[in-house]
Amino acid sequence: MAEPGLIGVFDSGLGGLSVLREIVARRPALSTLYVADSGHCPYGNKPADQIIARADAITEFLLGQGAQLIVVACNTATIAAVEYLRANYSVPFVGMEPAVKPAVAATRSGVIGVLATGAALAGDKLHRLIDRHRGTVRVITQPCPGLVEQVERGDLDGPQTRAQLARYAQPLVAAGADVLVLGCTHYPFLRATLADIVGPGVNLLDTGEAVARRVDSLLPTAPAPASAGVLQPAASRWYTSGDPGQISAVGSRLWGAPLAAQPLGG
Ligand code: DGL
Repeated sequence: MAEPGLIGVFDSGLGGLSVLREIVARRPALSTLYVADSGHCPYGNKPADQIIARADAITEFLLGQGAQLIVVACNTATIAAVEYLRANYSVPFVGMEPAVKPAVAATRSGVIGVLATGAALAGDKLHRLIDRHRGTVRVITQPCPGLVEQVERGDLDGPQTRAQLARYAQPLVAAGADVLVLGCTHYPFLRATLADIVGPGVNLLDTGEAVARRVDSLLPTAPAPASAGVLQPAASRWYTSGDPGQISAVGSRLWGAPLAAQPLGG
């Protein structure tokens, strides 16, 4: 049954929580549905047609639950599937766009790095975005296999996570990058560890807040006044295609409040 302003948010797993927290910070009274497609995570090593099939199935589910707006809180799924979704469904979709434009505006060294999944870098959409905004700035792209899985395990700062982050980010910094684009919604959860590795001279940019502003502009009613520090939507429902116990445990930690995931479709 349609519920005014009910929004659906999905990701391959828990990364989309980094987007949802920005949405809820602006709109604490919002009713939300979140799908962590953890049974099919990561998307980053899958071909586009498989990602489209997952996005399609999740969209059907969210519409069946009454969602009136859907946030594709996953860069990889946005790149692979948002055009398909917009062509096949009439609800509005808000997708992710890596923060290449603000990164180009922010760099002083004239070099930026873009961290993303393999699938996000395999298509031409992200490269077109880079070409549109790079101007004279040198843009170095870096696929980061394994990082999504570390976040899904809840390992945000262990030795393996640190080693992977260092392997991916340090060459970019050594090449002169003073801005790194976090081009996957899982990566904001690694921000503190990454900042520790690359140091204070490197700016880390994501687009969660920009997406929240876009969602805000599409919602029918004015936002309720924010209650400071409370990150709990008025009515939230959490679903996963993976193990609900695991997703509830790690998700609660990432979200900063108890979260009980139920089986997708259950
Ligand atoms: N959070 C997804 C993104 O923004 C991760 C994709 C994956 O599962 O590899 O790209």
